[in-house]
Amino acid sequence: MLPITGYADRYSVAPGQSIAFKVSSTAPEDYEARLVRVVCGDPNPAGPGIREHPVEAAFAGRYPSRVQPIHNGSWARVAAAAPLDALESFTVTATIWPTLPGLSRRQGLVSRVDDATGAGFALEIGETGSLAATLSDGTGTVVLDTGKALRARAWYRVFLAFDAGAGEVRVGQLAMAPAMTVDDSGSATAAATFEGGCAGSGDLVFAARAGSPPGDHYNGKLEAPRIVAAALDPDAAFRVAGEEPGAGSVADLLAAWDFSREMSSARILDTGPHAMHGETVNLPARAMKGSGWTGEEMCWRHAPDQYAAIHFHDDDLYDCLWETDFSFEVPEDFRSGVYAVRLRSGDDEDMIPFFVRAAPGRAQSSACVLIPAFTYTVYANFARGNVDDAYRGQVARWGARPWTPDEHPEYGISTYNRHSDGSGVAYSSRLRPILNQRSGYCAYADPLGGSCLRHFPADTHLLAWLDALGHEFDVITDEDLEADGVGAIARYKVVMTGSHPEYHTPGSLDALAGYTERGGRLMYLGGNGFYWRVAVNAALPGAVEIRRGETGIRAWAAEPGEYYNAFDGGYGGLWRNSGRAPQRLAGVGFIAQGDFHGTAYPRLPPPPRPCPAPASRRPPPPRAPRAAWIFEGIDDDEPLGDFGLSGGGAAGFELDWLDPSLGSPPHALVLARSQQQDDTFMLVPEEMLNHYVNRPGLPTRDLIRSEIVFFETPNGGAVFSVGSITFCGSLPHNGFDNNISRMLDNVLRRFRSD
Ligand SMILES: [Fe+2]
Repeated sequence: MLPITGYADRYSVAPGQSIAFKVSSTAPEDYEARLVRVVCGDPNPAGPGIREHPVEAAFAGRYPSRVQPIHNGSWARVAAAAPLDALESFTVTATIWPTLPGLSRRQGLVSRVDDATGAGFALEIGETGSLAATLSDGTGTVVLDTGKALRARAWYRVFLAFDAGAGEVRVGQLAMAPAMTVDDSGSATAAATFEGGCAGSGDLVFAARAGSPPGDHYNGKLEAPRIVAAALDPDAAFRVAGEEPGAGSVADLLAAWDFSREMSSARILDTGPHAMHGETVNLPARAMKGSGWTGEEMCWRHAPDQYAAIHFHDDDLYDCLWETDFSFEVPEDFRSGVYAVRLRSGDDEDMIPFFVRAAPGRAQSSACVLIPAFTYTVYANFARGNVDDAYRGQVARWGARPWTPDEHPEYGISTYNRHSDGSGVAYSSRLRPILNQRSGYCAYADPLGGSCLRHFPADTHLLAWLDALGHEFDVITDEDLEADGVGAIARYKVVMTGSHPEYHTPGSLDALAGYTERGGRLMYLGGNGFYWRVAVNAALPGAVEIRRGETGIRAWAAEPGEYYNAFDGGYGGLWRNSGRAPQRLAGVGFIAQGDFHGTAYPRLPPPPRPCPAPASRRPPPPRAPRAAWIFEGIDDDEPLGDFGLSGGGAAGFELDWLDPSLGSPPHALVLARSQQQDDTFMLVPEEMLNHYVNRPGLPTRDLIRSEIVFFETPNGGAVFSVGSITFCGSLPHNGFDNNISRMLDNVLRRFRSD
C-alpha cells in the first residue's frame, strides 16, 4: 500500500455542502491535512511546474494515522439466511461458467460457515480445477472432489448434497455441452457423519468462501443458485439446477435466486418461499449472458431470463468503505474551482483532488470549465504496463509522483485493463484512491522531454493558462450535468472542456446539446471527446459502466450479446452507434490515433487537392471573415502550435475531424487542419471497411488529421473545437505567450462577451 493515500465521497461539491475524506496512513505518527487550490499539476521542469495556492479551511490540521483495509473481489451476500439454520439434509445446486478453473487455489461458489466454530459448507472449485466441497460441523471436516477438471468458459450444472440420514455427502458436475474426447462430467461421494449440523450460520455467500472478510473469490459466471431441504441424487440435483425459474415443481425448495431480476441494481432476489434476498458486493458484472442465451436476442431487457448470470472477478472493487477522517464544510461564499486536500506524513505525501462548483443557480463567473468526472473515473488506476527504467528515470529527474497503478493493483484496476481472467473491466468507481488522477503523475515517459500527462494533470495546463491570463472561471463536473441537466450550466456564457471529455451518459450529453441549442458557447479543447456511451446508476453512486461494444478504439471487446449496459439498459459502445456521433455536438469527431506526438495546424485554405474530394468533403471557403476575429494578432502564415509540452505540438495523439455525414453542421468552418507525418497514426476501426477501403473513401493519409472547427448555434450560441488531445499542452509554451494561447484568448474573450 501507499504510505499515505485516500479518497473523497464525491468529486463535485457546492458551497454549503460537505465533502468527506477517507485516509489510510501507515505512519506511526499523525498525518497532516491541508487545503490547496490547484493551478498546475505538471512536474515537467520545462513547464510551469507544480503550482498550488494554500487555502484556509477549518479541517486543516493533524489526524491520527491508521491503516484502512481494502477487500478486492466481488461476491454476493444473503444476510437473511436464518431459514437455513435448522437444515439437516440439503442440496445446493447452481449453473456455472468458470473462467479460471485451474487457479491452484480454491474458489467459493456457494458457502456458509459459522465464524466461531467453522461449521458449515462450501460448494467450490478445488485447487485442481474440479468441482469440490468442504463440509464441517466444527469438529470434523470432509473434503471431496469430482476429480474431473472443469473447462474454462464452458457451462456446467453443479451440486452439493448432504444426506444426514445416510451419513453421506455428494458433489457433481455435468457439462451442458460436452466436448468430444473430454471427460468432464461426474460425481463423487464420501462418508460424512457429523455430530452437529453443517448448514453454517450468518451470511450465505456466493462467489467466495464465507469468512470475515470472505476470501477465495471465484472467477466466472454463476447462475441460479438453489437450495433444497433434502439430499438429492445426482440426476435429481442436475434436474433442479436446470429448472426454469419459478417452475414450482421442485419439492422441498428452500431458495431459488434469480439473478435476472433487478439486474440494474446490486440486489439479488430469491424467488423461493423465504424471500432470502441479498446483494452483490464490489460490482460483479450483471446483464451477462446466461446458460440459456440463444443468440436470438442481444438486449437483456427483451429476454431477461437469458441473462440470468452474474460474472464475478477476484479483482473487482467498488467502494473501499473506509471510515471518514475529516470533512470539509464548504463555506457559502467559497470560490468555485479545482481544489485538493494535501496529505503529508513525514516525507510521504498524497493529494485528493475535488471540484467546487458554484451553488446551483448562482454562477460566480461567465465561464465554466467542465471537469470530465466520468472520464477520470473510467480511466481510474489504469495500469499501462509501461513502468520501466525510462519511466523511473523521468520520475526521478522531475520529482514526479512515484506511485503507479501498475505497481499497486490493490486499489483496483481501470476499464482500460482486463480482469485476471482476461475479461474486460466494465465498471469503475471513484470510491477508492486513484493514483493516476493526481498532480505530478506522468502517464508515459518521453525521451524528448515532453510532459506526457493525461486527464487530471493534463487538464491543469488549461487551469494554469486561465490563471496566467487572468480569466476567472467556475468549474462543474459531468456528474452535475447528469444530475441537474442543462440547468447546471445554463447561466454560463461559455463552457470549456479539458483535453479529453471522452465518456458521456445520455444525461450529460443531453445537457451539452441543450446548452448549445439555447445559446451557450462551447469550447471543446480536446480530442476523442463525446465518444463512448457510459451509464451510471443512482443506487451505486460514484460508479460508471462501460460496454466496449461492436467497434471503436478499444482496450478490450465486450462479448457479442453483452453490449447493453446493466445500469440503464442503454446500448453501450460508441455514441455514433446510438445516432449521436460527436460531430453533432462539437462539429468534429474521432478519426485517427497515434503515439503521444503532436504537430502544428496549418491554417486553411490549403493548397488544392490532387484528387477531387467527394461532395461531403468539398474544400472549405476562403478564410471566412466570420471567423477572422479568432486569428487576431496571429500572422496569416504562422503554423498554429508547432510546440507544446504534450507531444511537442498542439495537434496530436488522438485527432478529430469534421464529417457532415456524421452530423457536422453544414455551416461549420474548418479553420486549420493538421497533417500527421508520423506513421504510428492509424485510422479508427469504425472508419475501416476492409484492408484497402475506408468509409469516407479517401486516401488514408488524408484522414490522419485534426481540424479546428467553428460554427454558430441558435440563439447566439457557438462552438469552437480543436479536435486534439495535446492541444492544451501547448498553452504554457513561452510563458503562455504563443499563437495557441492567443487564439484561445480571442475565442474565450469573444465567447464570454454579450
Ligand atoms: Fe481515451
